[in-house]
Amino acid sequence: MTNVVVVGSQWGDEGKGKIVDWLSERADIVVRFQGGHNAGHTLVIDGVSYKLSLLPSGIVRPGKIAVIGNGVVLDPHALLAEIEKLGAQGVKVTPENLRVADNATLILSLHRELDGMREDAASNSGTKIGTTRRGIGPAYEDKVGRRAIRVMDLADMETLPGKVDRILTHHNALRRGLGEKEVSHEAIMQELTSIADRVLPFRETVWELLDKQRRKGARILFEGAQGSLLDIDHGTYPFVTSSNTVAGQASAGSGMGPGALGYILGITKAYTTRVGEGPFPTELKDEIGQFLGEKGHEFGTVTGRKRRCGWFDAALVRQSVATNGITGIALTKLDVLDGLDELKICVGYMLDGQQIDHLPASQGAQARVEPVYVSLEGWKESTVGARSWADLPAQAIKYVRQVEELIGAPVALLSTSPERDDTILVTDPFED
Ligand code: GDP
Ligand code: IMO
Ligand code: MG
Repeated sequence: MTNVVVVGSQWGDEGKGKIVDWLSERADIVVRFQGGHNAGHTLVIDGVSYKLSLLPSGIVRPGKIAVIGNGVVLDPHALLAEIEKLGAQGVKVTPENLRVADNATLILSLHRELDGMREDAASNSGTKIGTTRRGIGPAYEDKVGRRAIRVMDLADMETLPGKVDRILTHHNALRRGLGEKEVSHEAIMQELTSIADRVLPFRETVWELLDKQRRKGARILFEGAQGSLLDIDHGTYPFVTSSNTVAGQASAGSGMGPGALGYILGITKAYTTRVGEGPFPTELKDEIGQFLGEKGHEFGTVTGRKRRCGWFDAALVRQSVATNGITGIALTKLDVLDGLDELKICVGYMLDGQQIDHLPASQGAQARVEPVYVSLEGWKESTVGARSWADLPAQAIKYVRQVEELIGAPVALLSTSPERDDTILVTDPFED
């Protein structure tokens, strides 16, 4: 028995929510350890859709503890709105089943505004990132700049006014520079006091909770958001999010030592998608890209933006296997490839006349690489809803085997529809 860390191995939206929900039946605790409400996870259970952004996907299962770790940037308004929305769908979120780290950083309205102002200014010069405009980057900047307001600060009216002054000195200087209106001390104090009573009941010393539970033998499931290629260090910088999304962050972002992390499960889509700007070597701007987008319903959960689609990039996922220490993958959305005559997989790139086997770190080189493909025959049969290997056509099995070989990691789970139970279990990550 072990703990399990779920991470995205591409540019996000690999189907982490569905797999975390499926796995959480076997877990006692589900922990988010980075990101914020830039994430958008869709779960489908008996035909009913649940859309989660900030809450761990394990929240929909009764009897589990969902935890928001210190590595998350937490917008209290988004948290309360999500709790209310889930309540309307019959999922009760209370301090019994949700705990929020007292040392997690808060996203305030000024962070959201700054994210938007910067993206608008960058749009004019063609340098925008295409962020979700949720204030994620500015909140992490304040955390690292040691001027953030954290959950526990809501309970300390002695020190809070000084902290508000400190954060405002920084933000008002930026706002003046951008030609925007300054924010007053009173406005921020009012924003914080208006939510404090509703957020504080969820506060928890998360490192201690996890330590006690681990010693008791509880099974802990860590739920990553975004994907490894959006990682602030290992991703396609600067077209990335502002946190470490790789598995190592599960430790720093929750307060549980890395030795207890266990099985690292990389959620991997059978093709590739990306939302927002940035390099994407295998992007298909033709009718096949359109086919994948329509069949895979590739529209962002958070912003509704159309996701860019392309062939599976084994070179990128192989890199993610290394940077995360992936033990095995959950391959999702295989069904979306049904009906294509030919399938291509990128195995490396040509850069300035030379073949290379990984994406270089430089932005200029990333823009110049040309993918090198292997080609496979497709299959005509439907794999939608397949629940065993025996239900898969021979060509689909060949595709899966080729993926495993090229990325250097085995398939532990295979997903064949959005529905919770349309999942094939090969190896149980908790028992590996
Ligand atoms: P996440 O951000 O990684 O949790 O992924 P999203 O929820 O943003 O996007 C994945 C989408 O694909 C969701 O709408 C899921 O319901 C859906 N999905 C997940 N697994 C499968 C699958 O195996 N087949 C199909 N067709 N859809 C899937
Ligand atoms: P899930 O958890 C896909 C992308 C944004 C943008 C970049 C930076 O659903 O897989 P940010 O708002 O984080 O500063 O935006 O990162 N991005 C995601 N793309 N899935 C996500 O989350 C994402 N979260 C952020 O589109 O390109
Ligand atoms: Mg998503």
